[in-house]
Order: sequence, then C-alpha cells, then structure tokens
Amino acid sequence: MRLLVIHGPNLNLLGTREPQIYGTQSLTDVDARLAQEAVALGVEVVCVQHNAEGAIIDELHAARGRFDGIALNPGAYTHYSYAIRDAVASIGVPTVELHLSNLYARAQHEPFRAISVVAPACRGTVAGFGIESYVLALRALTSLLGA
Ligand code: DQA
Repeated sequence: MRLLVIHGPNLNLLGTREPQIYGTQSLTDVDARLAQEAVALGVEVVCVQHNAEGAIIDELHAARGRFDGIALNPGAYTHYSYAIRDAVASIGVPTVELHLSNLYARAQHEPFRAISVVAPACRGTVAGFGIESYVLALRALTSLLGA
C-alpha cells in the first residue's frame, strides 16, 4: 500500500511558525515520525510540501494510479480553495484531510477557520492533535484501505 502525504502552504516553516499553535517540531521531524509510523503500519509513505495551490493540484492529479490513499493538510487553502476540493473529488483516490490545530477552537477568534471547503470531498477529517493528526490520518487510511 502506497500513501501520499501532502503538506500545504507555510508548513515548510513548522517549528518556527507560530510555535504556540503549531509546536516546535520541524517538517523534517514530522516526516521522520511518519516514516517511523509507515514501518509500523507496513505501508509505504511519501511526503511532499507545496506552497502553491497549482502545485498541490498537480500533485493530486499525479497521485492517480500511483498512490492508494492521500493524507492532505491544505493549510489555509482549506478555507477557500474550491480548486483543491474539485481536484480531490476528481481523482478517486481516498483522501483524509488533516490539521495540526483544532480549527473549531481557533474559529472562536478567527471565524473563517470553521469552514473547510475541501472536507466534503474527503473521506474524513482529523484536527487538533498536533503532529499526531498526521499519524492518525495514516492509520485511518490504512484501516480504510484494509491493510
Ligand atoms: C492548518 C490550519 C489552517 O487554518 C492554517 O491556515 C494552516 C495550518 C493546521 O494544520 O492546523 O496553515 O491547516
């Protein structure tokens, strides 16, 4: 089983970006944790990061026939990218949306975060568990796909 992890915009800055919200671990740390989890689950995991919306869409298109499932953190595109939502809906590859932070808690001060336009095209969503959100998304995909 091959799983693709897509980190969206600004996640390349993890570790230094608003650490009170996103933690102090870097994207390299996250990918290392996911590589470890991949071994435990007996699956292959490939991680990529893109800041540009079009690059994420190209990555989703290219996943067809190459990956069995996708864990997607669309970053702020979550809240307004109908293009990413349509790409997820178009490719037919089961996709789990995930977020490090609890969008609903944050929405009390930043209402725009309560809406994900990508989520309706996904199988499910994990949010609020920090790096563990990625791990839980991989476990959900593995279970869903029957590994
Ligand atoms: C995020 C939440 C988004 O609202 C935000 O724009 C991000 C990160 C998260 O992982 O918690 O960039 O997707």
